[in-house]
Amino acid sequence: MPVTYRAPKGTDDVLPPESRAWLRAEKTFIDLAEVFGYDIVLTPHFEATELFSRGVGEATEVVEKQMYTFTDKGGRSLTLRPEATASLVRAMVEAGGVRGTEKIAAWGPMFRYEKPQRGRRRQFYQGDIEYFGEPSPDADVEVIEFGYRYLEEMAVPDVVVALNSIGDVEDRAAYRNLLTTWLMERQDDLSDDARNRIASNPMRVLDSKADADIVAEAPAPVEHLADAAAEHFTQVQRGLRRLQIPYRIEARLVRGLDYYNRTVWEYLATSYEGAQDAAGGGGRYDGLFELLGGKPTPAVGVAMGIDRIMLMAGKRADQPALDAFVVIADPNRRDAGLDLVSELRRRGLRTDLDLAGRSVSAQFKAADRAAAAWAVVVGDEWADGKVTARNLATGEQETVAVEGIEAWLKGR
Ligand code: HAM
Repeated sequence: MPVTYRAPKGTDDVLPPESRAWLRAEKTFIDLAEVFGYDIVLTPHFEATELFSRGVGEATEVVEKQMYTFTDKGGRSLTLRPEATASLVRAMVEAGGVRGTEKIAAWGPMFRYEKPQRGRRRQFYQGDIEYFGEPSPDADVEVIEFGYRYLEEMAVPDVVVALNSIGDVEDRAAYRNLLTTWLMERQDDLSDDARNRIASNPMRVLDSKADADIVAEAPAPVEHLADAAAEHFTQVQRGLRRLQIPYRIEARLVRGLDYYNRTVWEYLATSYEGAQDAAGGGGRYDGLFELLGGKPTPAVGVAMGIDRIMLMAGKRADQPALDAFVVIADPNRRDAGLDLVSELRRRGLRTDLDLAGRSVSAQFKAADRAAAAWAVVVGDEWADGKVTARNLATGEQETVAVEGIEAWLKGR
């Protein structure tokens, strides 16, 4: 039996033509980040394990169950990044901290040991922006708007922002006590998982699908905000209304990562059948810089889940992958064909050809398979300095002077 290799469970190969759509998704993300004033930052795909256990939080599902942790040959405990925010904060602290404000973006694969299903992968992609150093609620609004505009550009229909405030650290301490008492009184009715969480991380119980009916009645953090957090939340909502970004308050939204305070949100695509899955999520995290050894620095950010967005995105007509496919109709003119391909490529036109010396019809088939917009045929008319250009979608055909073929193709 020959050995067969498969991609690891919960990971995907992205092959053409789909890979082109992924590349467009990335380009759209980076371009939009630049439009909003965010600069790209590259960080390692693995970090010291402790960065995540501290940064994301010991008692989170991500740290408890989902980390890809390994020991390297030097005996260090390293973890494939399950998210980008802790790395980006670490990178800023390491570079000397944030002077004034800093707006950064990141893109790439993240790793979580999850139960794989549609839109829930073990290697998945996030596009991420972070606004460092700005406490204004208008920064939250800007970041929320960014994610919303990205989903608009990706043609994800019916997006609504599920919004909440979990208050500041002090508000949370008081609320945590209240919630703990409330949960203890009902512990006999809770799932084992939820009961075990009461002591370590009671807010996470609000997230528990198995206990949804019970926790629907629980006191919510947003009902117990101190004045400063409440005013901040009011201003965030005011900003969203001004920009006409649809949102609804989701009092039980607490998010799965521990670094948040005040504003948290997720984007839901309400007409998508897996609507319980968010297309992205983010929040404010004013305490994370200090937690990771930096100076106190207010911060807010978001990560968009590209795998899910690719599933939710409206199908666009497939764009041609090539501008031109050069068909060599006369084997004696092979050199002329090769020169033409080289010339078109140097002019920046996406160009290919078939090198196997096959029949003209086989070359046309190859042009179709390669998703070329035009076939450029090098045949008898080459003697008169001409080629035949055939539109592969419509079949329309034209004789064009070789001199100026680049300009002609670019003008189509
Ligand atoms: P998160 O909610 O854990 O937040 O992830 C953000 C998005 O990544 C999710 O809404 C989802 O679309 C996508 N995602 C998460 N896990 C998976 C998975 N296993 N498979 C496919 N997609 C997934 C964060 O990661 C925070 N770092 C966001 C943030 C940035 N907060 C502040 N700044």
